[in-house]
Amino acid sequence: MPSSDSRAGASFPAARPRRLRRTRALRDLVAETHLRVDDLVAPLFVREGVHDPVPIPSLPGVVQHSLDSLRREVEQLAGLGVRGLILFGVPAAKDAIGSGACDPEGIVQVALERLAADVGDDLVLMADLCVDEYTSHGHCGIVGDDGAVDNDATIELYGRIAVAQAAAGAHVVAPSGMMDGQVGAIRSALDAAGFTETAILAYSAKYASGLYGPFRDAVDVTIADGGDRRGYQQDWRNRREAFVEVLADIEQGADMVMVKPAVTYLDVIAAVRSVVDVPVAAYHVSGEYSMIRAAAANGWIDGDAVALEQLTAVKRAGADVILTYFARWFAEQAAAAGRR
Ligand code: PBG
Repeated sequence: MPSSDSRAGASFPAARPRRLRRTRALRDLVAETHLRVDDLVAPLFVREGVHDPVPIPSLPGVVQHSLDSLRREVEQLAGLGVRGLILFGVPAAKDAIGSGACDPEGIVQVALERLAADVGDDLVLMADLCVDEYTSHGHCGIVGDDGAVDNDATIELYGRIAVAQAAAGAHVVAPSGMMDGQVGAIRSALDAAGFTETAILAYSAKYASGLYGPFRDAVDVTIADGGDRRGYQQDWRNRREAFVEVLADIEQGADMVMVKPAVTYLDVIAAVRSVVDVPVAAYHVSGEYSMIRAAAANGWIDGDAVALEQLTAVKRAGADVILTYFARWFAEQAAAAGRR
């Protein structure tokens, strides 16, 4: 852009964007992006068989809740105006097919029933829908004789888990296993069981990231034989492939789609936002959270400032909903400042 226009002989002064940066009020007035408590979903862990919350060393400030501490946490989150939570279970026992995931007495189902009774519709109850927390081998599905995850046997199981979670009171089920056809299988199973109003938040573009390490500590998961999830989660070299996943999920009935992780995939969030009209969620994952907390603990960065910068960047990229371990912190800050 030329800074002056000589065609008509007129000369305009160069733009001076710094004028609008002079005071805090000016900056707030012209800010393009505002992070709000309403944007955030809090991930929570509930562990079977414990009476007190268990700290997770690699996720400072986050705990494996007991049923009672979970109830208190959720009441406080609701009081702070947080709109949603997503629940992950840590079962007392694991097996080859992850039976605890669809057992009506399984830890997440029991927790959902209690929370539904406590907070009703004040807060959106989401359930992560996967089996890795429940399987002895740590994979997100049923492992076949060839050692690979059997796609079709797994999505049949996902359908049964969805029905168990909906029956227990989940408003939203969130399949995170990255199996082909999982959303369609879950929608059919929910509808057949009469749960036509239960929504699906699909982890659609979920990458085989190195940033899930602290989460795997949180749910006591080690993938057997030094394995990984590259056979089902997306290759992080690919952006266009996210469209294949997202569009397939919407066609199969996804009500919302998700990109995960968040900060290393801002380009994917922006691209997905520009091609779909359903709400787009992004998951600021455990490794993203812990890196900020660890650097801040060393005095190397201002953790609060970086957390706010990263979450705002995720919203600026196009996310409508952000899953983040900073949800409670942000809601507390907002409450102290009289904002939402
Ligand atoms: C799978 C699942 C994972 C996360 C959410 N759902 C782990 C994985 O795919 O290995 C990671 C979330 C995080 O790192 O915060 N059930």
